[in-house]
Amino acid sequence: MAAALTRRAAAVAAVLATVTSLLAPGAVAQLSPSFYSGSCSSLESIVRSGMVSAVQQEPRMGASILRLFFHDCFVNGCDGSVLLDDSSTLTGEKNAGPNANSLRGFEVIDAIKSRVDAACPGTVSCADILAVAARDGVNLLGGPSWGVPLGRRDARTTTQAAANSNLPSPSSSAATLISAFASKGLDSRDMVALSGAHTIGAARCASFRSRVYNDSNINAGFATRRRQVCPAQGGVGDGNLAPLDAFSSVRFDNGYFRNLLSRFGLLHSDQELFNGGPVDSIAQQYAGNGGAFSADFITAMIKMGNISPLTGSNGEIRNNCRKPN
Ligand code: HEM
Repeated sequence: MAAALTRRAAAVAAVLATVTSLLAPGAVAQLSPSFYSGSCSSLESIVRSGMVSAVQQEPRMGASILRLFFHDCFVNGCDGSVLLDDSSTLTGEKNAGPNANSLRGFEVIDAIKSRVDAACPGTVSCADILAVAARDGVNLLGGPSWGVPLGRRDARTTTQAAANSNLPSPSSSAATLISAFASKGLDSRDMVALSGAHTIGAARCASFRSRVYNDSNINAGFATRRRQVCPAQGGVGDGNLAPLDAFSSVRFDNGYFRNLLSRFGLLHSDQELFNGGPVDSIAQQYAGNGGAFSADFITAMIKMGNISPLTGSNGEIRNNCRKPN
């Protein structure tokens, strides 16, 4: 009898502890891949078909959506803040230095959001749609797939300043990149694996001009070819594009790391990952082992997707990804 009472008291205490931890302010909320399984079971298939048509129309879109997700997560957490348009009451992230004339894919997210809302009105956040779409972009270009933890809610506001101060610059050193990612809870290995996203997509001359004219740790023939699409004079040809992975920019593979070993990194920050510094051995490992890169990329994407999400009753489920309700 006494033992039964003790067990019962222990069970009550356990339930209380769980409830308290759920209610505790600042408690780390758990995202879950099955978050919408009862409320919007068609979510994943709707996002997938939206991404299939976007990538069919333009393969680079898989890369552009992946980058949108990174820029969302690094600025106030993965809260859909990057999707907010500037308005009379809000100066958001889209026109911040790293984003202006560069981020793309907003229309793709809008189109998916309206299809998701037609099936499950007011249920799925823009932040979650972006997380799933980024995974699908990777997979549709030949990369891995994984279950995306969900349950994020959307920010009601953001600032341009937050984007300017949180997003790493292509002129960064390895040490700067390591500390920028560490400040988001991501270690060196996560940083290198996530940088492997540059196996797809393109950069503008404005982002790689100084690399191809001033750096010495660059393959000479490669630098000459890139100079041909990128005039030396600042302001001329700034928007001219070159592939981030010179050999397979619409194929998600470990080619980015093989390029680094031959000094074919397009951005200064890319080549910093293999330049006699602290993460050379990780880049080398990924160059030789595509499976290790894939596995670590998945782990790091899930970690990045967990940066300070809004959950529970924080934030909102936006009706239009471009503006707060
Ligand atoms: C390590 C620090 C990083 C720096 C300094 C950086 C910088 C850049 C720059 C400068 C561009 C070209 C933008 C332009 O010229 O318009 C770019 C493109 C891109 N970045 Fe990063 N990036 C970093 C990490 C990441 C991460 C973590 C991801 C995703 C997981 C990512 C995904 C992409 C993709 C996919 C593109 C191509 C986008 C497109 O073609 O539209 N980057 N990045």
